[in-house]
Amino acid sequence: MSQTYINELSNHIDSTVVLKGWVYNSTNKGKLNFLVIRDGTGICQCVVFKPNVGEELFQKSLTLTQESSIIISGKVKEDKRAPGGFEIDVASMEIIQIALEYPISPKEHGIEFLAERRHLWLRSARQHAILRIRHELIRAMRDFFDGRGFTLIDGPIFTPAACEGTSTLFETEYFDLGKAYLTQSSQLYAEAAAMAHGKVYSFGPTFRAEKSKTRRHLTEFWMIEPEVAFNDLNDNMDLAEDFLEYIVGRVLKNKSAELQTLERDTKFLQNVKRPFPRISYDEAVKILLKKEIAFEWGNDFGGTDETIISQEFDRPVLVHRYPSAIKAFYMKRDPENDKLALAIDVLAPEGYGEIIGGSQREDDLTKLEERIKKHKLPMEAFNWYLDLRKYGTVPHSGFGLGLERTVSWVCGLEHIRETSPFPRMINRITP
Ligand code: 4AD
Ligand code: MG
Repeated sequence: MSQTYINELSNHIDSTVVLKGWVYNSTNKGKLNFLVIRDGTGICQCVVFKPNVGEELFQKSLTLTQESSIIISGKVKEDKRAPGGFEIDVASMEIIQIALEYPISPKEHGIEFLAERRHLWLRSARQHAILRIRHELIRAMRDFFDGRGFTLIDGPIFTPAACEGTSTLFETEYFDLGKAYLTQSSQLYAEAAAMAHGKVYSFGPTFRAEKSKTRRHLTEFWMIEPEVAFNDLNDNMDLAEDFLEYIVGRVLKNKSAELQTLERDTKFLQNVKRPFPRISYDEAVKILLKKEIAFEWGNDFGGTDETIISQEFDRPVLVHRYPSAIKAFYMKRDPENDKLALAIDVLAPEGYGEIIGGSQREDDLTKLEERIKKHKLPMEAFNWYLDLRKYGTVPHSGFGLGLERTVSWVCGLEHIRETSPFPRMINRITP
């Protein structure tokens, strides 16, 4: 008989099925042994009743420890009170392994204890729900762009130069060619691809040697980056809004059980509907000053500043036109004020802060060359990029959304470390 998954039990009421999984919990009450089994798709209570299975099998079932692996067959009964809504009346059972004493018990553990055992922690209900939501977000992101005529074109991971500032580069020796750097963003390559395909996106691992130990920083994370030829800053903001509305909507639609497991209050997620508020950097600064935060025009917002700004709104807020001095070399200046860059950041509500960074790109050859010099970047490494401004340059825009920060917000987590299956942080590279 073939395996049935717990999330398919509703199709098998009153018939006999085979479940394969792990013991999550067990409770013995006289002639009854209740086993809660998980199989990756859900959990199900399986009832071992001594008169039904016989003395030998019953005794064996009492030896099952947490996380022991087993195959069970029995009849499916509907039971509204049972977790998942079904129960199995066990007829036979094959034990694959009696697990050694499992280090993660239902009692509370310290975060470092759990992080060190991430390979096992993944099995707990909460972590399971988070990674399912992460998967749904990834699928939704791909569906969004694939359904709108975008072509997926990924950039390389080994790159010859910085894209987002030289202070956060991971470097490695690269044969006879000197140093290579792990990518900080595929944007520059996405720009080249946009000139070939019009609308493109890249989606891949991104590396930042961030010295920050905060609840929002990983050294390795995933970024999805659309880039569109002929889009200006406003088109870019429209795209970001549309994109966020779609991906959050997909999680609400398809992952309500997981959100419930996380006890996520979805009120703010239900609000993620266009139009989003759009404010300039200047207006954002005014919000901070009104709250008597000591903030000087021209500085970048820190995590706490973003928290305060985003708490003013009931949905994501787009902040545009940042001082060019604090932004990357490739951003186009505001034609109305040369001190400003045509940049956008999207700040997630509930204090989550920046999840998207993007801009309209500088499309003028001379200005871009000046900027590269001013930022003291190696011109040779950017010759290919400058070619894009020599051969049919056009206005174009794009942005990057950090997957893990988005998962953190959608799931309502306190720390980004739970959003990645095996997070990499300044103080952790294991397991
Ligand atoms: O704002 P950033 O640095 O923008 C870029 O890299 C642009 N080149 C993207 C583009 O226009 N194509 O990074 C984009 C997003 C941030 O908004 C944030 O969500 C995420 O990447 N991010 C991080 N996530 C986790 N840990 C870190 N250390 C992150 N740094 C950035
Ligand atoms: Mg940014």
